[in-house]
Amino acid sequence: MSPAEVGLCLCLSLLLCVPVAAQLKNEGRQQWPVPYRRFDHRPASDSYCEALYPFCPTGDRDGRIPYMRDTDVISVYRLQTPVWEFKYGDLLGKFHIMHDAIGFSSSETGANYTMEWYELFQLGNCTFPHLRPELAAPFWCNQGAACFFDGIDDSHWSQNGTLEKIGEITGSQFNDMAQWVQDDNETGIYYETWTVHSDPGPNATAWFDSYDCSQFVHRTYRKLTQLGAKLSSRSQTNYTKIYLYSGEPTYLGNDSAIFGQPALKNLAVDIRKFYHTFRPHQSFIDLTLSLLEAYKKVVLDKSFYLYYNFEYWHLPMKPPYMQITYEEVPLP
Ligand SMILES: *[C@@H]1O[C@H](CO)[C@@H](O)[C@H](O)[C@H]1NC(C)=O
Ligand SMILES: *[C@@H]1O[C@H](CO)[C@@H](O)[C@H](O)[C@H]1NC(C)=O
Ligand SMILES: *[C@@H]1O[C@H](CO)[C@@H](O)[C@H](O)[C@H]1NC(C)=O
Ligand SMILES: *[C@@H]1O[C@H](CO)[C@@H](O)[C@H](O)[C@H]1NC(C)=O
Ligand SMILES: *[C@@H]1O[C@H](CO)[C@@H](O)[C@H](O)[C@H]1NC(C)=O
Ligand SMILES: *[C@@H]1O[C@H](CO)[C@@H](O)[C@H](O)[C@H]1NC(C)=O
Ligand SMILES: *[C@@H]1O[C@H](CO)[C@@H](O)[C@H](O)[C@H]1NC(C)=O
Repeated sequence: MSPAEVGLCLCLSLLLCVPVAAQLKNEGRQQWPVPYRRFDHRPASDSYCEALYPFCPTGDRDGRIPYMRDTDVISVYRLQTPVWEFKYGDLLGKFHIMHDAIGFSSSETGANYTMEWYELFQLGNCTFPHLRPELAAPFWCNQGAACFFDGIDDSHWSQNGTLEKIGEITGSQFNDMAQWVQDDNETGIYYETWTVHSDPGPNATAWFDSYDCSQFVHRTYRKLTQLGAKLSSRSQTNYTKIYLYSGEPTYLGNDSAIFGQPALKNLAVDIRKFYHTFRPHQSFIDLTLSLLEAYKKVVLDKSFYLYYNFEYWHLPMKPPYMQITYEEVPLP
């Protein structure tokens, strides 16, 4: 089947006619989960985006990672703590909304370091766009990036979370990892909150994977293992995931395809309407209320517009629609 033949019109509940021709790979079959797009370099972020908390305030300005001597032995730590703990205590720990990072300490110099990956403009802005009257398309401040900085704040991680040594690597393994982190940081530029599956069961089809702090930690552990490191933990290693559940997603198109041509006006209006529910969020409480509102809307309309790889997809939502889990992902 050629893409053109598949490019019939798929009628959504609102009788929108949407071409589904693009994105078909492997002889017309879509690849699931949709691969996260890599870029050849990270663009500067738009000046419209404004961080409430500056990104990586104590990191090196150019993202440099110190060079370790080959003979050094570097301890690797698993770090986890509830999100925004400094504001809400361990309340969010009870919901298991956790932030993950990796710690390193050099046995030769005694210096230690923290490495994490997070949103440049906070989670709300990565999850929902801004509707700007002067722009047709919703506007996203969704960059995420790696931050490497001096020190490990032991009490921050250990008091309500986890600080556990999970292995040792050599200085040269560390340096190889540092090179990989910089490449990864340059090519993986945007944050994705949602994981989309066909159902909550173990055999579900994965439609989309999230791209967030914990995914960075998993990628780094895999890289360290490839480089020859052995990692192990005494306790279960669980991570937060924010799920959506849907039937097979439909590809809609990018900004210029949807918002740049009159033929898709109905779809453009519907996407704006969908995101209007989730107005700009000044606080975490607002974001939580938005998520509840999103849940209501999604259950009633059984419909969700997902933005992934800077393109829109339609998700025909199914029960239980949305879930936050704290599930085990074993060390590699
Ligand atoms: C993003 O979110 C934060 C708070 O979560 C807010 O202060 C900021 O102004 C938002 N908007 C943009 C465009 O970055
Ligand atoms: C990753 O990219 C961000 C954004 O450009 C930058 O601030 C940061 O220093 C980089 N981190 C590393 C480890 O290269
Ligand atoms: C841990 O949680 C308690 C109670 O919720 C809070 O008072 C304390 O500040 C938290 N610890 C750290 C290091 O943030
Ligand atoms: C990191 O270094 C600080 C300051 O020297 C020290 O207090 C802390 O215990 C170290 N943490 C780890 C996990 O090595
Ligand atoms: C998942 O798939 C495996 C292998 O096909 C099967 O043995 C198992 O029963 C399935 N589990 C569920 C919950 O469907
Ligand atoms: C948007 O998609 C069209 C094809 O549907 C493609 O030709 C165009 O290059 C894309 N634009 C961007 C900015 O990716
Ligand atoms: C960790 O994940 C496992 C399996 O995914 C689950 O059974 C367990 O209850 C989780 N632990 C916590 C503390 O939620």
